[in-house]
Amino acid sequence: MSIGTADEDRVRLNRADSKAVRARSLRLLGSLIRPVRGKFVATIILVVLSQATRVLGPLLIAFGIDRALPALQQGNPAQILITGGGYVLAAVLTAWMTAGYVTTTAQLSQAMLLDLRRRVFQHTQRLSLEFHEKYTSGRIISRQTSDLEALRELLDSGVASLASGVIFMVFTAISIFTLDWPTGIVILLAAIPMFFLARWYQKRSQVAFRASRVVSAKLIVNFVETMTGIRAVKAFRRERANNAKYTELSEDYRKVTVTSINLNGIFQPGLILIGNVTVAVVLLLGGFRVLSGGLEVGALLALILATKRFFSPVDQMAMFYTSFQSAQAALEKVSGLLEEVPTVRPPKHPIALPEPRGELVFDGVEFRYGDGPVVMPHLDLTIPAGQTVAVVGQTGAGKSTLAKLVARFYDVSKGSLSLDGVPLDRLSSEDLRRAIVMVTQEAFLFSGSVAENIALGKPSASRAEIEAAAIAVGAHDFIMALPEGYDTDVNKRGGRVSAGQRQLLSFARAFLAAPAVLILDEATASLDIPSERIVQQGLKKLLGSVAGSSRTAIIIAHRLSTVEIADRVLVVHDGEIVEDGSPADLIAGGGRFATLHGAWQDSLV
Ligand SMILES: Nc1ncnc2c1ncn2[C@@H]1O[C@H](COP(=O)(O)OP(=O)(O)OP(=O)(O)O)[C@@H](O)[C@H]1O
Ligand SMILES: [Mg+2]
Repeated sequence: MSIGTADEDRVRLNRADSKAVRARSLRLLGSLIRPVRGKFVATIILVVLSQATRVLGPLLIAFGIDRALPALQQGNPAQILITGGGYVLAAVLTAWMTAGYVTTTAQLSQAMLLDLRRRVFQHTQRLSLEFHEKYTSGRIISRQTSDLEALRELLDSGVASLASGVIFMVFTAISIFTLDWPTGIVILLAAIPMFFLARWYQKRSQVAFRASRVVSAKLIVNFVETMTGIRAVKAFRRERANNAKYTELSEDYRKVTVTSINLNGIFQPGLILIGNVTVAVVLLLGGFRVLSGGLEVGALLALILATKRFFSPVDQMAMFYTSFQSAQAALEKVSGLLEEVPTVRPPKHPIALPEPRGELVFDGVEFRYGDGPVVMPHLDLTIPAGQTVAVVGQTGAGKSTLAKLVARFYDVSKGSLSLDGVPLDRLSSEDLRRAIVMVTQEAFLFSGSVAENIALGKPSASRAEIEAAAIAVGAHDFIMALPEGYDTDVNKRGGRVSAGQRQLLSFARAFLAAPAVLILDEATASLDIPSERIVQQGLKKLLGSVAGSSRTAIIIAHRLSTVEIADRVLVVHDGEIVEDGSPADLIAGGGRFATLHGAWQDSLV
C-alpha cells in the first residue's frame, strides 16, 4: 500500500509508515542514480584514492623524523629527499583528485536534479483533477522549489564531504593502528560517545526537519493563495487577517528552525569536544610511553597529527548530517508526490476512433467526487450525433459535473459513458482530446501571443486558419486593435484583454479545434452589457458552426438566448434529469423549465 501524499502534514510517523516512507525515498534516490551510475562510481573511486594519498602525510612525517633525520645527521640526505619529494607528490595527487571529484559531483548532482525536476513537473501535470483539487498549487510549488533546493544543497556539497570525510577517517584510523595500536584503541573508545551523540541528534533532528518541511510548505501555500486571490483579498479587505495568518505561520517556521539550530548547537560542539579530549589523552599516554622508551618522538608527533586530523572531518560531517536530514525530509515529500497515481488513466489497449461522429451514451451512470457523497445517482441518456443540447438547472444541480464527465476530467463511478459506442476510458488521450473539447468558464490565457493562445485548439494551425477562427467568432476586430495584433503578448501592458474578450479567444480556440463534441460551460460571471452582447454573438457564431454541421454540442446555459439555439433542453436537478425535450415542448408542458423560462423573460423586460 502506498501512502502517497496522504497525511503529508504528519511530523511523527509510526514505525511502519516511517519505514515505508524511507524505502520509497531510497527507491527514488536509486532511480535517480541509476542513469548516472558510471559517473557515480568514478566519483567514489576518485574520493577513495584522494583520501588515501591524503593520509600519507602523517606517516611520511613519522618516517622523516624517526628514520630520515638520523640518516641525514650521519651525512646521508637521500632519505629526507625521498620523504620531502613523497610529501609533495602526495599533496599534488590529492589536489588533482579532489579537483576531479568536485567536478564530477557537481555534474552528478545537476544531472540528478534536472531529472527530478522534470519528473515532478511531468508527474504533477499528469495527475488528475481530483488530486489537484485537494493538493493545492502552493504545495506543488514548495515541492518543486524549496524541497528540490534542500536536495541540491545535499548533493552539491554534502555527499562529497561526507564520502571524503568517512573514508579519510577510516584511512587515518588504519594508519594510526599501523603506527601504534594502543592509540588506535583510544580512538575506538572515543567513537562510543560519538555514536550516542549522533544517534540522539538523528532522532531529534529528524522530527525537527520534517516539521520544518511541513511548515515551510504551509507558508508557501498561504503566500500563493493570497497572491492568486489578490482580487478577493482587496475586495474583502482581507489584508489584516492575512497578515496575522502569515505572521503566525512565519513564527511557526522560525520556531522549528530555531529548534533544529539549537540541536545543531549541541551536536557540533559536542563532537569537537570529544575530538579534543581524545587528542589530550593520546598526548598524555604517548608522552609517558616516549619517556619509558615504548614510543619514538616522531611517531608520537605523527599520532597527535593523525588524531587531530581524524576528528577534523567530524565538523564537516555534522554539517553534512544537517543537510542530509533536511534533504531526507524533502525527499520523503517529493517521493510521496511521485507515488500518487492519476485516477483518470489512459487505457493500456486503446480502441481507435479515427473519425468520431459525436454520439454520447450514458448508461446507468453513477458518480461521486472521490469518496464524497453521490452527486449523480443514476443517469441514462443518449445524445445523438449532431444534436445541440442545452443543460439547465439550479446552482449545484450537477450541470458542470455532467460536462466534466463527458470531457473525462473524472471517470464515472458506476455504469458507462461512451462516445460512438466506445467507452471513454478506452479511448487514447489523443483521440479523446481531438474528439471532445470543453470550453470552461474561466477561459484561461497562457503567457504568449494572442495567436498562440488561439492555436492551442490546433497546434498545427496556420496563421490564416487562426485568423479565420477569430473572424468566425467575432474576435478579429478587437485583436487587430491590440498594439501588435495577433502577436500581442497577452501578459504585457496593452495586451491585457477584458473578461468578455477572453471568452471570445477561448471560443476561437474551440472553433479551431473543431471537435466532434463541443462542451461549453457558459460563464456565469456577469459581464458588462456591451461585452455580454459580444460574447453572445461569438457564442452564437461558434454554435452556428456546430448547428447544421454534424457536431454535437452540450451547453450549460444561463441565458435564454443560448437555450433558444438548442434542439433539446435537459433540466437537471440533484444529479438527475427531470425534464427532457425541445424548448417549445417544455414550455408548453409547464414544468420547471417553463417556470425558469418565464423568469428569464421577465428579467429581459
Ligand atoms: N470538485 C468537486 N468535488 C466535490 N464535490 C463537488 C465538486 N464539484 C462539484 N461538487 C458537488 O457536486 C454537486 C454538483 O455540482 P456542479 O458543479 O455540477 O453544479 P452546477 O450545476 O454546475 O452548478 P452551477 O450552476 O453553480 O455551476 C454539488 O453538490 C457540488 O457540491
Ligand atoms: Mg457549474
